[in-house]
Amino acid sequence: MTEIPEHLLNRSKARRAEASGATSGDSAPAAASPATTASTAPAKAAEAPKPNAPAPDPVYVKAAKTRHKIPFWAMSGLALLPVWAALYLIAIKPAEKIVEGPMSIGATQYATCAGCHGAEGAGGAGRVLYQGEVLKTFPRIEDMLNFVYNGSQKYVAAGIKQYGDPNREGGAHAPLSYNGNPMPMQGEKAGGALTEAQILGVVCHERYTISGADPTSEKYKDEYETWCSPDSEIFKALEAGSTSFDTIEKDFAMLPKKPGAVGTTPRASIMK
Ligand code: HEC
Repeated sequence: MTEIPEHLLNRSKARRAEASGATSGDSAPAAASPATTASTAPAKAAEAPKPNAPAPDPVYVKAAKTRHKIPFWAMSGLALLPVWAALYLIAIKPAEKIVEGPMSIGATQYATCAGCHGAEGAGGAGRVLYQGEVLKTFPRIEDMLNFVYNGSQKYVAAGIKQYGDPNREGGAHAPLSYNGNPMPMQGEKAGGALTEAQILGVVCHERYTISGADPTSEKYKDEYETWCSPDSEIFKALEAGSTSFDTIEKDFAMLPKKPGAVGTTPRASIMK
């Protein structure tokens, strides 16, 4: 090791004292003379070992370095994030409109008939509808729609002596022949409260749900498709107001199973 001249050591000491805030008489900057700059290098080298010594990590730094970055238990939660996101999107999406076919509207509407005809159609103040009974009276849906639309009294007033199938098992039904009470008119033009789409719905409900007509049978599949299925063009047109009981026969003449006249005024059976 080379000997460091005394004056340099002294200056080094003075600089160090200056750096640590102590006042010093020597105010000349160290870089003032090139000779001084060159000679400070060894002095700095003497200081070097101290800052270079690696300080031991504090406990919290050590803990941070050895810790697993994502705790294992959080992984399951993170893996489910996409599922949560999907559920969230579904939840905030507006509910889709429920498809309302004639049968679903009819099931609701039947509540206004159940008081007289019974929840199951077993009868009461009004005639028995279940177990095929109403199908015996009305083999054709058009006759039933007309009767429900107008009610017994309009039939009496029009001088119509019987409604439905004239050859009904047990005899044709005459207006006011059940217990002397009338079947109340339902259609709007007849003084009732139901729209034609609602009447079609409730009649479909009575035929297929209450009375048990089989929509897949030879006897009823055409009628079901044309009038009561969720895809029924007639039902959709009635709901939209683009056809009416008075014009159905003409408006839907193009259907493979051409519907018969319904009408909003009482008329005798279309059965020949
Ligand atoms: C106030 C009681 C009452 C209510 C409410 C009522 N009905 Fe009637 N219904 C009768 C009576 C009474 C008869 C028998 C009519 C007659 O003899 O002229 C009848 C007969 C019928 C018939 C003929 C059955 C047959 O085999 O002859 C049908 C179909 C019918 N009602 C459907 C309905 C529908 C659909 C509703 C609801 C929208 C309804 N009724 C609500 C009392 C009622």
